[in-house]
Amino acid sequence: MGDYTNMSAYYDTIMTSGYYDYAGIVDSLSAHQPFSNILEIGCGTGLILEEIARRHPAARLTGIDLTGAMLEIAEKRLNPFQNVALSLQNVIHFDLGRVFELAFSYGGVWYFVIDGDDEPFMVSHLPALADNQQGIERVANHLTTGGKLLLGTQGPHHNYERVISNGMTYSQTIAPNAHGFTKNYYLADGAQTVMAQTLQYRTYTFAEACRLLASCGLQYIAEESKPKRFLAFVKT
Ligand SMILES: C[S@@+](CC[C@H](N)C(=O)[O-])C[C@H]1O[C@@H](n2cnc3c(N)ncnc32)[C@H](O)[C@@H]1O
Repeated sequence: MGDYTNMSAYYDTIMTSGYYDYAGIVDSLSAHQPFSNILEIGCGTGLILEEIARRHPAARLTGIDLTGAMLEIAEKRLNPFQNVALSLQNVIHFDLGRVFELAFSYGGVWYFVIDGDDEPFMVSHLPALADNQQGIERVANHLTTGGKLLLGTQGPHHNYERVISNGMTYSQTIAPNAHGFTKNYYLADGAQTVMAQTLQYRTYTFAEACRLLASCGLQYIAEESKPKRFLAFVKT
């Protein structure tokens, strides 16, 4: 479930070769107030937390992630920042013993895909229904009343390959399965495959996602931000 061990050594190179726009992500996050006590769910190698820590030295930041190899890279990256704490946690079970005003996930455990004017749908790294309910409950328990959960948005996924900044070729293939899709990630150095990772994702229609989140006390709030990098849910 969502284990990024195989990709970890190459993750930063792939993502900073145009896959995610980290400066833009933090622009969008920073528009939310208060911005002082923040949790990232599925923080990976800490690329977003680093950008936040640099711009907002007074914010208190916490990142959790399931994959030890990703967190090891995050620990090195974030070591210079005194305001960041990291924890190896599966979102299904985590209990940090404190609450946050803002929690977010970008490509982490849950995100929404927006494809033109179609209704967004939610993608989850957790293939099992019960794990999603439990994970969202855990997140809701870590938010103050009135606190927000922001879930990142992405464009539609498709099969492609592209040469990245180290000269290797990144490729991905996507195939539907019973409850969502299977995604294969590859990195090749010439004819040699240096990384292969396969993950199973569960998908939810927008209505199903809103019901799931609402059942844990998280209500969708429509925001007029452009670009729409996050959908927001408020803890009631
Ligand atoms: C695509 S990466 C995103 C990392 C980071 N947010 C970024 O933007 O670079 C997804 C991350 O979610 C983590 N993840 C997946 N399932 C998880 C779970 N059940 N609990 C905690 N983290 C999880 C993975 O280990 C991986 O590091």
